Amino acid sequence: MRTDTGQVFRLEDYRPSDYLIPETDLTFRLSPDATQVTAVLTMERREGVAADVPLVLDGDGLGLAALKIDGKEAASGAYEATPDRLTVTGLPATGRFKLTIETVVAPSRNEALMGLYRSSGVYCTQCEAEGFRRITYFLDRPDVLSVYTVRIEADASEAPLLLSNGNPVERGQLEDGRHFAVWHDPFPKPSYLFALVAGDLGKVEDSFVTMSGRKVDLGIYVEHGKEKLAGFAMDSLKRSMKWDEEVFGREYDLDVFNIVAVSDFNMGAMENKGLNVFNDKYVLADRETATDADFANIEAIIAHEYFHNWTGNRITCRDWFQLCLKEGLTVYRDHEFSADQRSRAVKRIAEVRTLRAHQFPEDQGPLAHPVRPRRYREINNFYTATVYEKGSEVVRMIRTVLGAEAFRKGMDLYFERHDGQAATIEDFLKVFEDASGQDLSQFSLWYNQAGTPNVSVSSTYDAAARELVLEIEQSLPPTPSESRKRLMHIPLAFGLVGREGKDLSHGAVEGATVEDGIIHLRKRRHTVRFSGVSERPALSLNRGFSAPVTLSVEQKQADQIFLAGHDSDPFSRWQAFNTLLTDALIDAFRSVLGGKEPRFAPWLGETAGRIAADEALEPAYRALALALPGEADIAREIGKGIDPDAIFKAREALAHTLASANRHLFGDLYHGLGDNGDFSPDAASAGRRALRNGLLDYLALLPGGAKLASAHFHGATNMTDRAAALAVLAQRHAGSAEATEALAAFERAYSHDPLVMDKWFQIQAAVPGPQALETVRALCGHPGFSMTNPNRLRALIGSFSSANQTGFHRTDGKAYRFFTDIVLETEKRNPQLAARLATGLRSWRSLEPARQARARAALLSMAAAAQSADLKDIVERTLA
Ligand code: TRP
Ligand code: ZN
Repeated sequence: MRTDTGQVFRLEDYRPSDYLIPETDLTFRLSPDATQVTAVLTMERREGVAADVPLVLDGDGLGLAALKIDGKEAASGAYEATPDRLTVTGLPATGRFKLTIETVVAPSRNEALMGLYRSSGVYCTQCEAEGFRRITYFLDRPDVLSVYTVRIEADASEAPLLLSNGNPVERGQLEDGRHFAVWHDPFPKPSYLFALVAGDLGKVEDSFVTMSGRKVDLGIYVEHGKEKLAGFAMDSLKRSMKWDEEVFGREYDLDVFNIVAVSDFNMGAMENKGLNVFNDKYVLADRETATDADFANIEAIIAHEYFHNWTGNRITCRDWFQLCLKEGLTVYRDHEFSADQRSRAVKRIAEVRTLRAHQFPEDQGPLAHPVRPRRYREINNFYTATVYEKGSEVVRMIRTVLGAEAFRKGMDLYFERHDGQAATIEDFLKVFEDASGQDLSQFSLWYNQAGTPNVSVSSTYDAAARELVLEIEQSLPPTPSESRKRLMHIPLAFGLVGREGKDLSHGAVEGATVEDGIIHLRKRRHTVRFSGVSERPALSLNRGFSAPVTLSVEQKQADQIFLAGHDSDPFSRWQAFNTLLTDALIDAFRSVLGGKEPRFAPWLGETAGRIAADEALEPAYRALALALPGEADIAREIGKGIDPDAIFKAREALAHTLASANRHLFGDLYHGLGDNGDFSPDAASAGRRALRNGLLDYLALLPGGAKLASAHFHGATNMTDRAAALAVLAQRHAGSAEATEALAAFERAYSHDPLVMDKWFQIQAAVPGPQALETVRALCGHPGFSMTNPNRLRALIGSFSSANQTGFHRTDGKAYRFFTDIVLETEKRNPQLAARLATGLRSWRSLEPARQARARAALLSMAAAAQSADLKDIVERTLA
């Protein structure tokens, strides 16, 4: 592990490199413990740089085996090599030379999963963000673009498959049972997009003919025997390629496109040019092993990585501060893709739920940072929900502000102007200003200012004057190192919903720019006067979640209930009911704290029943509407003084109330949705399963619930239903004979399949209550568990800390101490993963005082023991 230097990188310190690397020739002689890497770099001193300026290349844990300048061994005084730096002086005065660097690395001992490593015997690489420097010395920064030629030599029986970026050029036999392949990538790229894969894998082949008629060979490589599980991924890839042509005019540019699934991977997937590497969890699927959520994730991530070919690869980032330039934009693109492939309304609700569950707590806690951060200690810690998900929301707002046509014009200009470049957020905003003639300077604060703005709204209606007045105020809570905030441009989509459930028209508006159903907030306070409003409307605000803000609206409960039944905007209709549920849960939480039984108004049950039975609504939408806000969602809305046990009680009470009030209706609907044994992963079928499984979750609370869930489990003909029933049994009927038996049956059936076993770990880690700690501790010793595999750790430890509020936050703090030990143990091998796990404690300050003190003690002990920049950075910021 590289120990922390404490160095901080700042956006304002950016300067171009002194040298360029127009060409990079790499040769890998692969072997598990000593892979020889020879890099021949064609170097050029940048114009205007003095001849005596040394060349300083990045390394990370490297040893230099040999160094040549223009083919001649470098004199010992002409360079200095340390594990993390190679400094070369006395370079040719012309400033043009070839540098040959030899290093030796040990993929089999690389447990950080960055650089060249082995996963189940397959050689693979992960270079983003700074992994290339663990392979050879290089200018390992995204603004140094180079044309790569890669030769791979390996034992032919161990690694019949030899892949790298670009197009295949040559392959052949060598002595001693070895062979080689050469790949050439004509598109200049930064080192973080380099990839190599070598091993013995099965292949699924297909092809795609691009819009200009070029045939592209597609390959997905998986473990032998798993080829049948890659069909959905291949189908998703072809649909992504087609969609990017149709919607963004983007065509693929190489002769081949390959995807490799590996089982040890720190994140979801990686967009290496022409050779995407995936966590196998996001490739492998069939009805027996994958849930509908898994299918949807595969489709989205295949699309995401493919879309990076233009937004990320053809146009890359100048520096890592600009990470959102590729990530926010590419997430926006994959969201739009999924919305077009599935149900737009359902997709939007799911996106907002994810944003609120992951990004809001980040933005409202100690790890808050702007979509484009200005400083970092460890860039790996900035692959965050803020950069990705809020970054996507900011792109969506650009489209909202400009309109669809100008947005597309801007995107076209972006591709035209910046193809082949390493660009910045300023470049990105400029294309939209140029395409639309609008000034986006105030808007650009969305990239530069952290925190979730709040918009508060109150209204008065004057029937005689037919005038509606909205008092709107934006407030911007302080975030770490940004105490004073500037006012933002917030595009707030709205509707004035009349008694008939239709949007009312209005006449002239004063007090803010209002266009196409959007109020443009630019000042702290706006008094917006709508003339010609024929009746007092119910206010539908932030329709479609047009801006990533929190909203405080003074509105009668009757209006909210009306919107939950009638808002023509499906997102806002969902939101209206969700807000009612949340308000009821917060009241119930206060009752529990006050020692009272929570009570709920009867209309809640009635509204839930009406939504459940509304055949005009898609089943998937109904499932989302009926799903209660999660315990963490409720905690976030309450804000501080969190007692997870009280939240749990309140939520259980509401679930029981809704179930009892609708027992017959839910029962009939449930049986009406019965599984006929057919299976298709499409959105409509998945939606019916989601509704049926959501109803099961309620019905399981009623007498006979365990039996019903058990029958559901044993009758299941797909993993979605089986896993849903198992979760209901394990979490709602913990300790029952049915639960114990189902857990055992699941384990017997899938003990050979690690990805399916992750669901089994995850479900048990989330069983509420203080006993969960002992369950999780015991599962760490299960033969199917592994401390080295990120998926296993996330399934067991990540789920425990993020999806088990009552178990993780047990009052004695023992779960925090256990968690600390696991994080520190993980740090020794994989600091990046340890740092990610550690974010599980980021909301510690919102807990009630006793838990807060115990969480702080755990964080302090983590801070004292942490060694890596990754973990220290997270823990120190969390405590600050
Ligand atoms: N660029 C990848 C994506 O968003 C993210 C990624 C994959 C990554 N693996 C990583 C980032 C390792 C940092 C480290 O698709
Ligand atoms: Zn990405």
